[in-house]
Amino acid sequence: HPPTLQMVESSTLRTMNCRAKGGAPGFKVAILGAAGGIGQSLSLLMKMNPLVSVLHLYDVVNAHGVTADISHMDTGAVVRGFLGQPQLENALTGMDLVIIPAGVPRKPGMTRDDLFKINAGIVRTLCEGVAKCCPRAIVNLISNPVNSTVPIAAEVFKKAGTYDPKRLLGVTTLDVVRANTFVAEVLGIDPREVDVPVVGGHAGVTILPLLSQVKPPCSFTSEEIVYLSDRIQNGGTEVVEAKAGAGSATLSMAYAAAKFADACLRGLRGDAGIVECSFVDCQVTELPFFATKVRLGRGGAEEVFPLGPLNEYERFEAVNHFFIVYFATYRNCYTCIILG
Ligand code: NAD
Ligand code: LMR
Repeated sequence: HPPTLQMVESSTLRTMNCRAKGGAPGFKVAILGAAGGIGQSLSLLMKMNPLVSVLHLYDVVNAHGVTADISHMDTGAVVRGFLGQPQLENALTGMDLVIIPAGVPRKPGMTRDDLFKINAGIVRTLCEGVAKCCPRAIVNLISNPVNSTVPIAAEVFKKAGTYDPKRLLGVTTLDVVRANTFVAEVLGIDPREVDVPVVGGHAGVTILPLLSQVKPPCSFTSEEIVYLSDRIQNGGTEVVEAKAGAGSATLSMAYAAAKFADACLRGLRGDAGIVECSFVDCQVTELPFFATKVRLGRGGAEEVFPLGPLNEYERFEAVNHFFIVYFATYRNCYTCIILG
């Protein structure tokens, strides 16, 4: 006989009590949109993260199916599922980190901006829940268009009086992951040895890999710079076209989101020197939001690093394309006013 919901609940409670007695360290993490393409793989990866003690999986569909499946993994985190809007508050209460991959993905021929109308509404509702139930949580926002959903989330938190710019982080790690991979291919080295800062935003030409700052130090021909910049900027579209209508990047994104979430959790734990790129509210340029390197700590993005020296190509790209990030931000503030 399959276990009843009551049996599952009481065994979850027993596990939680047992962990609490053992004093197992760990953070409480919620994934909103956990039954989706990114959400399912990300849930799996977060269940494997030893820093996670409690994992809440929320979606408007299939949350309990995914939860039942993931909960059989013999790793430490206790997993609980939450289905639909009435359960959003329970999903969020007490969370340290909230990861949001909820929303529709692109199909071939679409830009990320085409997702704005529907995803802005989803992000708004979810962030209202965060503001009410876990206002001190770090938020990792994945839903596209990131250049716009992050400013939307900021407006929601401002309205609720809970906004802390250090705790709202747009996830641009996939751009870094791609940059590391493609640069390593060109250099003929292991991608794990490569670190490419990627700044700006998360859409086409607003994605600016700083190839002049690659570690280990190296140089590229102008053909390589054009090839690499184009491949990194259009990595998302490459996957959307290859999937031919079945969605956008989910597996590499789940990997990138898990990597970024792990960095946030290590920061929350108090580890020193945790530096990642993220799209944040900052003053490194005249734009209100910008992706740049940040140092993650107990309070979220505790330090925002300047862009560092740019070469002529990078300066040209920045001057010509960053106004798009500016447009995305203000279009959103305007939309927020309309949404009330
Ligand atoms: P998907 O359609 O496979 O999954 C989305 C999930 O969100 C679904 O399970 C859906 O039920 C859920 N959802 C919808 N409305 C919801 C709501 N109100 N509350 C909770 N859950 C809700 O899509 P996906 O491939 O997982 O992509 C999700 C989002 O992530 C898209 O917007 C996509 O563009 C974006 N994305 C961002 C990056 C990045 O680098 N930041 C990379 C890849 C994808
Ligand atoms: C990506 O970069 O893969 C995501 O932003 C998804 C997309 O629509 O390209």
